[in-house]
Amino acid sequence: MVLLREKEQEVTLTMNEQPVMVFKDVVKVYPLPAGDVTALDDISFQVERGEFISVMGPSGSGKSTLLNLMGCLDTPTSGDISISGTRIRDMSDVELTNLRRDRIGFIFQYFNLFPLLNIIENVTFPMMLKSQKAVDPEKGKEVLRSVQLDDSLFTHTPTEVSGGQQQRVSIARALINDPDILLCDEPTGNLDSKTGAGIMDLMSELNRKGTTIIMVTHDSHIAEYSRRTIRIADGRIVE
Ligand SMILES: Nc1ncnc2c1ncn2[C@@H]1O[C@H](COP(=O)(O)OP(=O)(O)OP(=O)(O)O)[C@@H](O)[C@H]1O
Ligand SMILES: [Mg+2]
Repeated sequence: MVLLREKEQEVTLTMNEQPVMVFKDVVKVYPLPAGDVTALDDISFQVERGEFISVMGPSGSGKSTLLNLMGCLDTPTSGDISISGTRIRDMSDVELTNLRRDRIGFIFQYFNLFPLLNIIENVTFPMMLKSQKAVDPEKGKEVLRSVQLDDSLFTHTPTEVSGGQQQRVSIARALINDPDILLCDEPTGNLDSKTGAGIMDLMSELNRKGTTIIMVTHDSHIAEYSRRTIRIADGRIVE
């Protein structure tokens, strides 16, 4: 919770900053032997600090591609993406790695936890990458408690807890380096509606404390938690 409170202050201090993210004329083409697939076709939009955005659209419309570009996991074929005023194309590999590690948290549909690591080890892993040395497990415990995971589960492995609990672990892992942007691809896609609602309450709380959230969902009830929806179809923003 300490983490969250610090962010609240940050928000009030940085209201006049530039947008967290700007996409300008972004095109993403996947070259395939059978022919090019244009996954994103001239996408432009911007995200202000503190927004909570849902990205909706049919299967294959380009939602995951868009999220991967936002998270700098992939690069556009043409066009420009800027994060807090810096163009991604002007960043070095080291700068990009640090950006991904320190400022962006990713939450995946299938949790993507390491099966052989216990829950605390999973959560502190990105911290270890950052500090390049063993980390204090207390930090992991603190964040796990902030996502309301019971202490008795901390030394379990991911397969020994429920889907909802695994998603809380993956949220904790995404938060451990205190990112200011949280990207989520169908974060409740594999959860029942009650567990999903619990996860969404947690995300709303994080957003209230200042984290910018961009979430892909096909579920209009889940999208209601966001404050703006970007709709895409065939790789283009519609409406
Ligand atoms: N690595 C890839 N190589 C080739 N084509 C790809 C690749 N990733 C995605 N595509 C294609 O790009 C288009 C957009 O895919 P994307 O995964 O972004 O869709 P999506 O909106 O996330 O779909 P879903 O709702 O099913 O997850 C699709 O036509 C898909 O087949
Ligand atoms: Mg997808």
